[in-house]
Amino acid sequence: MAAKYTIEEIFEKTKAHLKGRASVDNPRLEAEYLIAHSLKCNRIDIYLKYNQIIGEEDLNLLRTNLARRAKGEPMAYILGTKGFYKNDFSVTPDVLIPRPETELLVEEICKIIEKMNWENAIIADWGTGSGAIGLSLLTEFKTLKAHLVDISPAALQIATANATKIGVSDRCFFINKDIFSLAPSQEHPSVDIIVGNPPYIPVGSKDVETWVAEYEPKEALFSGEKGLDHLAAWINKAPHFLNQSGCLALEHGFDQAQQVQDLFCNQGFVDVYSIKDLSGYQRHTVGFKK
Ligand SMILES: C[S@@+](CC[C@H](N)C(=O)[O-])C[C@H]1O[C@@H](n2cnc3c(N)ncnc32)[C@H](O)[C@@H]1O
Repeated sequence: MAAKYTIEEIFEKTKAHLKGRASVDNPRLEAEYLIAHSLKCNRIDIYLKYNQIIGEEDLNLLRTNLARRAKGEPMAYILGTKGFYKNDFSVTPDVLIPRPETELLVEEICKIIEKMNWENAIIADWGTGSGAIGLSLLTEFKTLKAHLVDISPAALQIATANATKIGVSDRCFFINKDIFSLAPSQEHPSVDIIVGNPPYIPVGSKDVETWVAEYEPKEALFSGEKGLDHLAAWINKAPHFLNQSGCLALEHGFDQAQQVQDLFCNQGFVDVYSIKDLSGYQRHTVGFKK
């Protein structure tokens, strides 16, 4: 007969197993997430059910997920979800895990929409991935519409599922296209805002965390020798898809702001500025079509 363990015992064992792992900052919190996920309960319930015996099926699921986490797989892929801005987004290894710094880009676009009275506008989210940026904007403005573009059919499937989950799918147009060869069409006419978080890591960069390089999709991360190929293509294309005075807002690497600003100015964008992230790095650049 298999050994029986209480939730308290399993909690202690899980914490101990995670302790000291390179990718685990907070073993207690991560143990809570893994156990709650296996038991299909909230984290607080773990403490309320401390003396309960954990069932065999739940224990097996926990063992599998703990082994995945101990090997370095990101928690978001194990749980299948990541909180971003005001919603929980489903994520799989087909999409980048949305990052907290990207929330600042969403906040900036919200300010621009309010200032320009663009609440009824159509926007585009280029390289939408899980849909984090575009769908967050749709939840914030109930009359906004969005074109969500990605080269990856698998990513667009996740974005579509997220749109349904969040309840904004009736205002979304999903476009499975490569931005490098995208041309204005009925499918993607001109819009007031293009926002995007393209791949921007130089190929061969040594600065990428192991878990990022190992688990996240390569096509979401890397872009040419200097990390600027996608940014340059996005910026060159954008004027063809923007209405007059339309806004382009892009995320980029912490050391790319000057080059990105130059690319914006070379394409005729005006009022170009960059926004700092919480660490003080300029991580997003905004400009307006003249
Ligand atoms: C850095 S991820 C951003 C995902 C999401 N927007 C976010 O911020 O979490 C970049 C996305 O761009 C997509 N992508 C890469 N190259 C592309 C291309 N040439 N055309 C369209 N999408 C592309 C990738 O599939 C990926 O989903």
